[in-house]
Amino acid sequence: MPTLNKIGVLTGGGDAPGLNAVIRAVVKTAHNSGVEVLGLEDSFDGLIYPGKSRPLTPRDVTGILRLGGTILGTVNRGDPFAAPITTAQGTFDYADRVMEMFQKTGLDALVCIGGDGTLAIAYEFFKKGIPLVGVPKTIDNDIVGTTSCFGFDTAVSFATDAIDRLHTTAEAHRRIMVVEVMGRYAGWIALHAGVAGGADVILMPEIPYDLDKVAQCIRDRDAWGARFSIVVIAEGARPKGGHVSLVEEAHPGHAERLGGAAMACAKELERRTNKETRYVVLGHLQRGGAPTSFDRTLATRFGGKAVELLMNGQYGRMVANHPPDLVPVPLGDVVGKIKTVPLDSDLVKTARALGVSFGD
Ligand code: F6P
Repeated sequence: MPTLNKIGVLTGGGDAPGLNAVIRAVVKTAHNSGVEVLGLEDSFDGLIYPGKSRPLTPRDVTGILRLGGTILGTVNRGDPFAAPITTAQGTFDYADRVMEMFQKTGLDALVCIGGDGTLAIAYEFFKKGIPLVGVPKTIDNDIVGTTSCFGFDTAVSFATDAIDRLHTTAEAHRRIMVVEVMGRYAGWIALHAGVAGGADVILMPEIPYDLDKVAQCIRDRDAWGARFSIVVIAEGARPKGGHVSLVEEAHPGHAERLGGAAMACAKELERRTNKETRYVVLGHLQRGGAPTSFDRTLATRFGGKAVELLMNGQYGRMVANHPPDLVPVPLGDVVGKIKTVPLDSDLVKTARALGVSFGD
């Protein structure tokens, strides 16, 4: 068993409700085992720029369980290995700088909390010799190897509430309402919020949609007297033979930004059905606010388990939820992959049986 005296914790990528709950659990669990914790600010920047780290004690994390965001800050950049970095001390190779700072700060190991991008960076540093464990984070729920990530339940709850509110106004005006939710490559939020909110159409990245079929579904509903329809569309959904809606192309250091799927879909549905159509983009509201009790509990379990893995010397792993257990999975099995919605999943089948259209 390795002796741990001091560990670092960082949060990277887009934020998700529950990050603070993980940090709190890491700090408290480590402290109670006699291990010091250094909070690294703005992801790996905390191991690049002097002054971007601070000791975290139980006192520093009291009261953060219920807070969204992250007390450590985060960054959402592309591949940091791609270019050298410049600090007050000069220009350095990114990886060399992190390795050097890891030694200088007297750290024994790291807890890296993040999505696919951060976990991929963490894996590179693990291969270079930094003992670390990963904690999966994304509201999109698309990290492989774990059934769920904290933040997803909060996002789905928020989106479901939004759909509930849209139902009443859609019905009052006999309109089509198109709701855009997050989900770049996977439709987990669209599917779960769509089913929970009673959506009539769910459009996801996994199933390119045919607008004629969506329009027909809406006409069919009108025919039996429904008079309104709710369409939930993931930001990464695209029409058959078409493209995803982009706000900004990818450029060095930045992934492409998606957006506009609902607007494009609403415009076309209005034209095809002659029904008044409105759209709403839930956007970053889905990432904000307090985590649900489910996410607080999952995040707390993840944080506690991450420290346990470090103390057992089980490095290079990601904490994964395999109900009823949390298990370590090799980071190498996780990075560079995306967990999409299986089209034969129970929830997809149930939704279809209820008459929900996926536009296919
Ligand atoms: O966390 C993933 C995600 O929510 C995606 O669904 C979305 O495309 C992306 O983050 C947007 O992130 P940002 O605006 O922070 O770049």
